[in-house]
Amino acid sequence: MKTVAIVPAAGSGNRMNREISKQYLRLAGKPILVHTLQVLEACPGVDGLYVVVPPQDAASVRREVIDPWNLKKVAAVVAGGRERQDSVRAGLNAIDRDAEIVIVHDAVRPLISVELVERCIREAAKSGAVTVGVPVKDTVKEVGQDGRVLRTCDRSALWLTQTPQAFGRAILDRAHREAVRDGIRGTDDTSLVERLGIAVRMIPGNYRNIKITTPEDLVIAEALLAARPVV
Ligand code: CTP
Ligand code: MG
Repeated sequence: MKTVAIVPAAGSGNRMNREISKQYLRLAGKPILVHTLQVLEACPGVDGLYVVVPPQDAASVRREVIDPWNLKKVAAVVAGGRERQDSVRAGLNAIDRDAEIVIVHDAVRPLISVELVERCIREAAKSGAVTVGVPVKDTVKEVGQDGRVLRTCDRSALWLTQTPQAFGRAILDRAHREAVRDGIRGTDDTSLVERLGIAVRMIPGNYRNIKITTPEDLVIAEALLAARPVV
């Protein structure tokens, strides 16, 4: 089945608080975006990559990232939108007509593995919609506006959601279409599928697969890249 990956990389990295957007910051000498695209390129099951970038960066990303790093599977560089969901939708509008499976993977999660991406593709082909995640380690509490703890959640049922997420193409198309129609903003793509009543499978992933969000995540990611995988 023809499989493509949409890589949202159109954010501005406000929480990183750096001059340049975090997807372009270097880790072990390479831009974060390059780490991520190289893993996706190495996946035998991935046929093409659609990299979604800030509209003003489209030319420079080709010139400074895709060409110099010799990334061969990039089918298109797409202009992103205001929020992540808008960027994924722009990617979805750009993919090949005959793509059957669509993976969405954040540019700023460079520590994925080929095995995990391939497992997502296989599971999405079987069940239609999957996400990778890990069980929560800490105790999670719901807290009111006034700082009062309202309740302690049952940790045994809680998972942190990561990407990759993978879908049958028609399911993801419909989820985005209906989200626009209903004015829904989701912080990931599976939430848009869940609201249609379609089952989403959770695939146990890896604690290494962090999203680089705040400055300390850069330190952690450098250390994880230098270390041998522990699982
Ligand atoms: N993203 C995107 N388009 C947007 C916003 C985010 O493609 N309008 C991408 C980011 O580039 C990143 C991924 O979605 O790869 C996850 O988003 P996040 O970690 O929130 O990144 P930023 O939005 O850049 O960071 P912040 O929220 O701190 O500004
Ligand atoms: Mg953001």
